[in-house]
Amino acid sequence: MGNVDDLKPIFSPRSIAVIGASRSPHKIGYEILQNILVQGYTGKIFPINPETPNIMGLKTQPSVLAVKDDIDLAIIAVPAEFVPKVMTECAKKKVKGAIVISSGFGETGERGRQLEDEVLQIARKGGIRLIGPNTLGYKDPIDNLDAAFVFGMPRPGEIALVSQSGALCIGMIYYANGEHIGLSRVISVGNKADVDDADLIDYLNQDPSTKVIAMYVEGIKDGKRFLDAARRCTKPIVAIKAGRTAAGSAAASTHTGSLSGSDAVYDSAFRQVHIQRAYDVIEMFDYARALAYQPPAQGNRVGIISNGGGAGIMIADWCESIGLKVPNIAKKTADALRPHLPAITSARNPLDVTGDARFHRYHATGSIMLSDPNVDALIMTCVHAGIARPREYVGAVIKLVEEKRNLRKPIVACWVGGPDIDEVVQELRVKNIPVYASAMRAAKAVRCLYDEGRRLELLGRQGRARQPNGSQ
Ligand code: ACO
Repeated sequence: MGNVDDLKPIFSPRSIAVIGASRSPHKIGYEILQNILVQGYTGKIFPINPETPNIMGLKTQPSVLAVKDDIDLAIIAVPAEFVPKVMTECAKKKVKGAIVISSGFGETGERGRQLEDEVLQIARKGGIRLIGPNTLGYKDPIDNLDAAFVFGMPRPGEIALVSQSGALCIGMIYYANGEHIGLSRVISVGNKADVDDADLIDYLNQDPSTKVIAMYVEGIKDGKRFLDAARRCTKPIVAIKAGRTAAGSAAASTHTGSLSGSDAVYDSAFRQVHIQRAYDVIEMFDYARALAYQPPAQGNRVGIISNGGGAGIMIADWCESIGLKVPNIAKKTADALRPHLPAITSARNPLDVTGDARFHRYHATGSIMLSDPNVDALIMTCVHAGIARPREYVGAVIKLVEEKRNLRKPIVACWVGGPDIDEVVQELRVKNIPVYASAMRAAKAVRCLYDEGRRLELLGRQGRARQPNGSQ
């Protein structure tokens, strides 16, 4: 296992040097310094620039060697050809960690690969852990540190995001902010010359602010280390593995110098270590939110409540087609449901509470369905039909989630109705209740919670087997 303490000076630095801090607001080195200051970093900051005595009111130094205090983290934003010299100075200064923002390394071809290796060797000899090169940096909304260029902080939350793409990383932050999804740490890993996904899985696994690890991966250099880290990780991991096709793979090699590898191999490796695979950003966050805020499902049997037959049928189809079951409900459940339903409605699963349902019918039937011993998870759906009461249904879902926590059965919502209902479902998002705009997304989120339930069961069994008194 990588030593997670090595990464503390990078992620919890007591002092930061920005090498290449610039006077020009259009340059990356200016933006990094500005982001650190704007976010209210409370440690010591040392802008390094040999050309000017001060930047943004802070005294500059010509090199890290001129700084009297210790430096935990150096953020390097000078052109690639100057990075070896700057890294040598960092090694002399005994800087503990570095983030190399500069591009122009392995992603550009053989010459760049050599340069990257040279920088890595200098860092290794000097005992410096290194993120990048070719990275955006990181953003930490929990400890309020913006160690990246490009404006924009994530909403604080419990999902860590590790991304090999810098630009996509920013897009994902904006998407998550819009969906009211909170993030704990956002780390752009770039070319992963030193610190890689395995290190970060270990680091985030012991991070008390992180519940789920979400990753965008183009290539993994050391498959064994990655799989070992994923295997010992006790938190759920959701990953997009991009570069699945010949075209995508060629693009990844010039983007981050990654070798994408065979998609089938990745697929089977991810399965082995229980990484939930997602195929785009929306799917990744769908899973991550469900995993962070709903309990895992103990089985694959799903109860469905809808205010319109079609919505319930589509969810039933999706559930059954991805390995979930839509079981018959127990007789006791059907008897309990009947008094709440109009005469024309049959007490069955999926249950159509019909378009004229109001808060009480939606809430009471949801509550009864959840108590059925044949039901492991509940999907509550609303179609925004003329007489429907989406706001009342939102209230019912919130109440159910709060009342039924002790049952340890996940509840997800599926709201079909376009922009009209966006403001209505915002209340669910704010309360971190997973809500999806389609049957497919809701069913897949439940499948993901079922897979998580099986992963935890397996971990539990393995744990018991390893006990000295275990039966195996
Ligand atoms: N030590 C300290 N400061 C120095 C040094 C040095 N040895 N040498 C130069 N500087 C100063 C310069 O004087 C300048 O400051 P000034 O503007 O006040 O004069 C500042 O450092 C920046 O140096 P420039 O030569 O102006 O470099 P520039 O800002 O144009 O570019 C950069 C540097 C941003 C690192 C560029 O080379 C680069 O790599 N850009 C791409 C970055 C990127 O996209 N990263 C990946 C994103 S994530 C992804 O998509 C995978």
